[in-house]
Amino acid sequence: MPKAIALLRSGAMRSARLLVIATALTVAPASAFDLQGHRGARGLMPENTLAGFAHALRLGVSTLELDVAITADGVPVVSHDPALNPALTRDATGRWLPGPGPLIRSLSLQQLQAYDVGRLDPASPYARAFPAQQARDGQSVPTLASVFALVRRLGADHVNFNIETKIFPHRSDDTPDVAPFVDSVLAAVRAADMVQRVSIQSFDWRSLRRVQQREPAIATAYLTTESAGFNNVRDRAWTAGMDWQTHPSTAHMVRASGGAIWSPNARQIDAAAVTAARALGLKVIPWTVNDAADMDRLIGWGVDGIITDYPDRLRAAMQRAGLALPPSIPP
Ligand code: G3P
Ligand code: CA
Repeated sequence: MPKAIALLRSGAMRSARLLVIATALTVAPASAFDLQGHRGARGLMPENTLAGFAHALRLGVSTLELDVAITADGVPVVSHDPALNPALTRDATGRWLPGPGPLIRSLSLQQLQAYDVGRLDPASPYARAFPAQQARDGQSVPTLASVFALVRRLGADHVNFNIETKIFPHRSDDTPDVAPFVDSVLAAVRAADMVQRVSIQSFDWRSLRRVQQREPAIATAYLTTESAGFNNVRDRAWTAGMDWQTHPSTAHMVRASGGAIWSPNARQIDAAAVTAARALGLKVIPWTVNDAADMDRLIGWGVDGIITDYPDRLRAAMQRAGLALPPSIPP
């Protein structure tokens, strides 16, 4: 990092810490705390399924977090993985996939929905990570449109959607290109008349730039992770060409990109970073927080929301902090 920027970054950090001390007792969220159910309620129900989203609504969330892929026939569907994940996918005969399945982009919607994603393979390490997840056999990969329809049918009019474009600059064969990918998501959002209730998030900031160009009314959420294994902030392929060395902080990069929301890896922030980002006008909504003590700490730092696999745990943390809870929606 050039020395001037290093000084700027450390100076920004110092000012932010002072700001924390000065304003610790006065900072209050500008709007209701955003309880985001990660992939619905991954800790409790099969991820990114209608059963999972209905369960999250039943518990009471303000936002459904979900991931999107595009089928061969151009339909946005809800899946974390661009290829079918063997830890949670059985074929039409009920057998677990022996390894990574086909790319979703290679399957028609009809072919895709022949698979069952309603149960974790008990032999998989993934199942051990979510021992409380119940099974709901017969769940197929849902379309984005069907998630909107579910929320409408249940009358959950207060619930928003945080839609992640799962697109990968270094694996361009895995998905359609940025423009058709984003445009098909936007078409589904518009068709459901959900523009006002959607944010679009991505580690791939190219897709967020496309959203800003095509549908500026939609808030964009900049996902970041800055670990040794994967650092999207320092790779210009992920940041739509932005060079981290020319900005004082990651939050400044989000701000300069036109983002409304910064969604950092929760383990990579501190109180000063939260305060500084909010002072730039950003909302801060970290992912993915499942531990009660972590939730308490982040709420204390003044984050605007939290993305969690366990909406029930976050509701309890919000209650401890005296925050208003989103209503629960009966099935
Ligand atoms: O919302 C952010 C979070 O979902 C990003 O991580 O891998 O669970 O999509 P991932
Ligand atoms: Ca996600």
